[in-house]
Amino acid sequence: MIPLVIDTDTAADDCFALLVGLLDPRADLRAITMVAGNVGFEQQVHNAFLTLGLAGRLGDVPVHLGARTPLLREWRSASEVHGDGVGGLRRPSDEHEPSAEHAVDALIRLAEEQAGELTIVAIGPLTNLALAVRKEPGFASLVKELVVMGGSINGRGNITPAAEYNIYVDPEAADIVLRAGFPRVTIVSWDPLTLRDAVFTAAHVEQIQELDTSLSRFFVRANQATFDFDVRVGISGSTHPDSLSVLLAIDRSLALEERPYRMAVETRGELTRGATVFDWRSDEPNVTAIERIDSPRFFEYVRRLLSQEVADGYLELLAG
Ligand code: BDR
Ligand code: CA
Repeated sequence: MIPLVIDTDTAADDCFALLVGLLDPRADLRAITMVAGNVGFEQQVHNAFLTLGLAGRLGDVPVHLGARTPLLREWRSASEVHGDGVGGLRRPSDEHEPSAEHAVDALIRLAEEQAGELTIVAIGPLTNLALAVRKEPGFASLVKELVVMGGSINGRGNITPAAEYNIYVDPEAADIVLRAGFPRVTIVSWDPLTLRDAVFTAAHVEQIQELDTSLSRFFVRANQATFDFDVRVGISGSTHPDSLSVLLAIDRSLALEERPYRMAVETRGELTRGATVFDWRSDEPNVTAIERIDSPRFFEYVRRLLSQEVADGYLELLAG
């Protein structure tokens, strides 16, 4: 099993990414760490616990609260994309509480306990990771692999024409992380990877709906806002880079092409804040970008994952 931490701004695809970490038998999800991003912080925490409940894993995996704002910038939500991130569902009880340990301390402790073994999947802005790097200078070198959903490979952004959301929200944090010396950084990009290989069309969503499990009902409901937004901006369905990132951390054979780059982040540009520059010529690469995945296999994986019936206590909430 692969010891994992998922650092997340939990809404929509982040929830599905947590389901991958919680339900795939190859994953040993040690902690969920929360970072300011997609929607309000409390809503994100709610969404993470709701997802734990749906996966039947409440109380098994601790939720650690981390940075509530980016390092230097004003927080920018993506609620126009994701709504509240769970289609208006409310968790039936709040009996489970976040851990008292801060996310940054949990990241450092887990990396130390599992020196050279831990994989971290960062699917939100990189604020918590940057703080961990600053707090414990040895932190980066202890992590086996850092998988980052962020940036575009010299391509188009989403939150601005130039920048992908996770990097845009906290470009200084991304810069710190990229310079920190993590032994292995894997990048799941917005453009081209997500836009080409991780889009679920209406036909895909219909196949998921037909499963008629509580998880499939959750998927369809939590995904609707993102689906509608993505289609409005000209994408052929909903985008799933976060769930893809967790799956790649568990099963790299899904990647069909990868390539090393020197990745840098624009922190100063007025029009290009958070834009990512990938130098393909560098002799000193700091990341490996996934360039192509087996897209039908990715969809089939998600469809199977959602075909399980796991969360008895939550069935009422998601009655068909
Ligand atoms: C990223 O931004 C968020 O809105 C998604 O959860 C994903 O992590 C895509 O740009
Ligand atoms: Ca995310």
